[in-house]
Amino acid sequence: MVSPRDWPEPVVRVQSLSESGKLVIPNRYIKPPPDRPFLDSSPSDINIPVIDLAGLTSDDLTLRESTLKQISVACREWGFFQVINHGVKPELVDGAREIWREFFHEPMEVKQQYANSPTTYEGYGSRLGLQKGAILDWSDYYFLHYLPPSLKDHSRWPGQPSSLREIIEEYSKEIVRLGRVLLEVFSVDLGLEHDHLQKAFGGEDIGACLRVNFYPKCPQPDLTLGLSSHSDPGGITFLLPDENVSGLQVRRGDQWVTVKPAPHAIIANIGDQIQVISNAIYKSVEHRVIVNPDKERVSLAYFYNPKSDLLIHPAPELVTEDTPALYPSMTFDEYRLFIRTRGPQGKSQNIIIFLSNIFNQSREIHMIYIEGGSNENDYRRGERRNESRPLIPVCRKSIFCRRSAAVCPTYVITCDSYMNSHMILYTPCYI
Ligand code: OGA
Ligand code: NI
Repeated sequence: MVSPRDWPEPVVRVQSLSESGKLVIPNRYIKPPPDRPFLDSSPSDINIPVIDLAGLTSDDLTLRESTLKQISVACREWGFFQVINHGVKPELVDGAREIWREFFHEPMEVKQQYANSPTTYEGYGSRLGLQKGAILDWSDYYFLHYLPPSLKDHSRWPGQPSSLREIIEEYSKEIVRLGRVLLEVFSVDLGLEHDHLQKAFGGEDIGACLRVNFYPKCPQPDLTLGLSSHSDPGGITFLLPDENVSGLQVRRGDQWVTVKPAPHAIIANIGDQIQVISNAIYKSVEHRVIVNPDKERVSLAYFYNPKSDLLIHPAPELVTEDTPALYPSMTFDEYRLFIRTRGPQGKSQNIIIFLSNIFNQSREIHMIYIEGGSNENDYRRGERRNESRPLIPVCRKSIFCRRSAAVCPTYVITCDSYMNSHMILYTPCYI
């Protein structure tokens, strides 16, 4: 697969649409009914775990252990948590977000100098994925590389506001430090050598890149999404949310939990590569962003990734007869290309990769059953939750390319083989 040099159709800036003052959004941004958000104004008590990282370095052993335990539970059950007392100064946290807000309020000619293309995605962009005629998200973004040093190019970072480069350098350094800390905590919690994940990620040669999301005000927030449901393809994501405007929603079973950011907190979430190395002990959970009629929202998603050409696979220590490898080896480069070409589509990419792994391992698989899904539209063929009926004979793999798989919260995949009467592959939550 080769990345094309340009977008399949002219780029429209969502910010310009928003500023046009029209009360109706173009059809291209209207999501099919099952994907639309349910905008309930009543606040819910549920939130993702908030973890005080100061506990990790405390002299109090009990506190250290309880902090580790909280991280462990969050990674296994939520895939998401917020960290406070993370060591990044509050002024830097606010400064990093606000300097980007300023950038997005620069005149369009300034921003257009950095317009991106699908070859590298670096710069100012307004879409992900290359499918012509695709339904688009209500957001613009800016994407840049920090690591490896060979990819960092300051001339591709905005030159205005003039302090942006300096502030983002400083913020980036802090994120890389945090990434190392969490990789070590995760390794120990998974029962691996303390440096297992860092080594699997390439040691010093990790990747780090930033996507700054700008969600303009939207006149019809109930019809669209700021960012469609997806899981993050990389290692760990550090998300700096807009403290004043909520928008991020995290999948929890059949529900979407709206994250309530704690002051100066940074949200950490598990990406697909850690789900793979942990052989699905840790979950890379689907999330999406809803938009707001009266408030814009800015967020910084920092992706801490493995070196892009290393093979990523389940840690051998975590592969046993009872817990066989759920994923094939694949480099992050290969994985990312696959996702970028398709745009955000929930977890369907994982199911395709997962199934191709099963198909490659065994030619005996005969039938596949899928259950799960939050509503009837997930199953256009009439297969319903808890009624695991035969879905497809093995020869019709293409069905998994359909969008419907993207909205299923849980997949339980059962494979019947011709020879062995029952071979069950159970995926605990997401695959
Ligand atoms: C992302 C993302 C969430 C947000 O950029 O991958 O999930 O709140 N962003 O902007
Ligand atoms: Ni994300």
